[in-house]
Amino acid sequence: MCGIVGYIGLEDTKEILLNGLEKLEYRGYDSAGIATLNGGVKVSKVKGRIATLREAVDENVHSTLGIGHTRWATHGAPSEENAHPHQSVSGRFTIVHNGVIENYLDVKNEYLANVEMKSETDTEIIVQLIEVLNEELQDVAAAFRKAVNLLTGSYAIALIDAEDEDTIYVAKNKSPLLVGLGEDFNAVASDSMAALHVTDQFLELMDKETVLLRRDEVIIQSPDGERVTREPFTAELDSTDIEKGTYPHFMLKEIDEQPFVIRKIIQEYQNENDEIKLDPEIREAMKNCDRIYIIAAGTSYHAGLLGKQFIEKMANIPVEVHVASEFSYNMPLLSEKPLFVYISQSGETADSRSVLVQTKELGHPALTITNVPGSTLSREADYTMHLHAGPEIAVASTKAYTAQMAVLAILAVDTARAKGLELDFDPMQELGIVANAMEALTDQKEDLEQLASDYLPTTRNCFFIGRGIDYYVGLEGSLKLKEISYIQAEGFAGGELKHGTIALIEEGTPVIALATQENVNYSIRGNVQEVEARGANSMIISMKGLNKEGDAFVIPHVHDLLTPLVSVIPLQLVSYYAALHRDCDVDKPRNLAKSVTVE
Ligand code: F6R
Repeated sequence: MCGIVGYIGLEDTKEILLNGLEKLEYRGYDSAGIATLNGGVKVSKVKGRIATLREAVDENVHSTLGIGHTRWATHGAPSEENAHPHQSVSGRFTIVHNGVIENYLDVKNEYLANVEMKSETDTEIIVQLIEVLNEELQDVAAAFRKAVNLLTGSYAIALIDAEDEDTIYVAKNKSPLLVGLGEDFNAVASDSMAALHVTDQFLELMDKETVLLRRDEVIIQSPDGERVTREPFTAELDSTDIEKGTYPHFMLKEIDEQPFVIRKIIQEYQNENDEIKLDPEIREAMKNCDRIYIIAAGTSYHAGLLGKQFIEKMANIPVEVHVASEFSYNMPLLSEKPLFVYISQSGETADSRSVLVQTKELGHPALTITNVPGSTLSREADYTMHLHAGPEIAVASTKAYTAQMAVLAILAVDTARAKGLELDFDPMQELGIVANAMEALTDQKEDLEQLASDYLPTTRNCFFIGRGIDYYVGLEGSLKLKEISYIQAEGFAGGELKHGTIALIEEGTPVIALATQENVNYSIRGNVQEVEARGANSMIISMKGLNKEGDAFVIPHVHDLLTPLVSVIPLQLVSYYAALHRDCDVDKPRNLAKSVTVE
C-alpha cells in the first residue's frame, strides 16, 4: 500500500506534494512525510495523517523539487521514525518507497553490515544501499540502477540527491507508478489522481524500469540501461470527480452515485442496436471455457459470489469463487479449459495479482473486471471489462460492488446468448429498473439513519442472516458495518444458525435479516422467529411483494437475481450512519487502506 509523489519544476513544491498526498491518503494513513531540496534537504514527517503533516511543514521553506509519502505500515510500527522519507547515513540521499522489499535482510547482510539503521523499515536499506554503491561507482544514476536491480519484491521509489537539484530518481516494480508530464515541470505519483491538479498527461512505467525525472525531460531506462520511448496518455478523470463537493463523506457521495453508475454501465455496454457491446474476444473466451474461476478479495469476492449465481443460472457454465489470498495454498484441480476472472475495484490487489501471475504461467486465459483499466491486473490479464464507476475514494467499497454485479450480469447474459441459450431476461431493461429502485432508496436516508440509531446505538455486535443470494448480501452488509463502525458484525446463512451460531444470540442482539427471495421467504422468517425467541432485536429488510407487517424496511421490487444490487443499499446506509453515530472516521477506517498492494 502507501502512496508516493514527486515534483520537479518551477513552482513551490510544498502545496503540490501535500495536495497530491491528500489524494493518495486512501492508500494508507498511518504516517506521512515530504522532503524538499533547496540548498539542502528539508524533511518533515509525522505519525498520522496529511492534515497533521500540513501543520508540521515549515511555511518558510521553499523549493521547486520534492518527494512525498503516505504510509500504511508493513515493516515497523506506525511512528515518526518509520515514516518516510528516509535518509542515508550521510544525509545525501532521501527516499520514499511504496512496496515490500522481500530480500531486505539479504541486502542488509551482504552490503550494509556496517551501516547503522535508523528505522525498522525495509525501505531504509534501499537508500543506504544507494549511498554505499555510489561510493564505489561514483555515479548516482548507475548506483541507483544497480541498487534497484539487486532488490526483489515490489517497489515504487522516488529518490533525491542533496547534491543534484535537477533530478528525481524513480523506479518501479509491481507497485503502481505513473510519470505526470507538464511544461517546465514533471511529476511522479502512485495514481493519476495525485497529479491531476497539475497535469492530465501521463506516462505509464513498466516493471523494473528506472527514470531520471528532470524539469524538462523524462529519461526512461530498461534494467540494462537502454533508453525507452513511450507515448503519453490523457487521464480520463476530471479533478472534480475526486472531490467530495457538498457531501460530508466520500462514502455517502459514492452510495448516492450508484444509480448513475448503473445507467452509465447500461450505456457503455449497449450498442446502437440495443445489443450487448462486448469485446468479441471476451465473448469467445467465455463461450469456449468449461469452467470459470473467479478470484477476488473482500467486497469484490462478495460480488464474485453473486457473479457465480448469474453465470451458472444464465450461461450454464460452472463457476468456482476463490478468495485470492487462499488460492495458491488451496489450488483446486483445474478443469481442461479454465477461464480466470479477476474482480478488483483497484486492479492493484497484490493477492489477486499473485494468482494472476501463477495462472498466466500455467497458460490460462484471464479476464479482469476492474474500475481502473490501466491498473496492473488489467494490463497483465488478456482481457478487461471496465466498471465505469468513477473513482471510488472511500475505503469502504460501495459503488464498485454494485457495478461489479451489474457487469457480471451483463457478461452472463452475453455468454448465454453467444451459446444460443434461451433467456427471458433483458439485462439493460432490468438494470434500468434497478437504477430507479436505487434512487428511491438513496432518497430514504432519514429512515435508514433512524434504523441505525434504533438498532445499533451501543451494540458491540450485530448479525446478518439470509438464505440463497440474500446470504451473500448479508456477508457484504456485515463487512461494511464492521469495517467502518468497528461493531463486530458477521453474516450467516439462515439455515446454519441452529448449527452453532445461535448460541451467540443474547437479549437485545441486533439481527438484520434479508428477505428478498420468494423461495426462502418463509424459511428466513422462521429463522427470525428463532432468534427473536432468544431475545434478538431483529430488523427485516424485505422486497415489495414479499413484505409482511412489521418489516423494518422494504426495498422496491426488482428482478429476483438483481436484488443484491438494491438490497445492499440500505445495508450500506445503515452502516454509514452507525459509524457516524460512533464518531468513526467513515472514509478512512482505522488500520485499513483502499488499495491493498501487499500480500
Ligand atoms: C471493503 C473493501 C475491500 C476490497 C478488497 C479488494 O469495503 O473495499 O474488502 O473489496 O480489499 O479490493 P479490490 O476490489 O480493489 O481488489
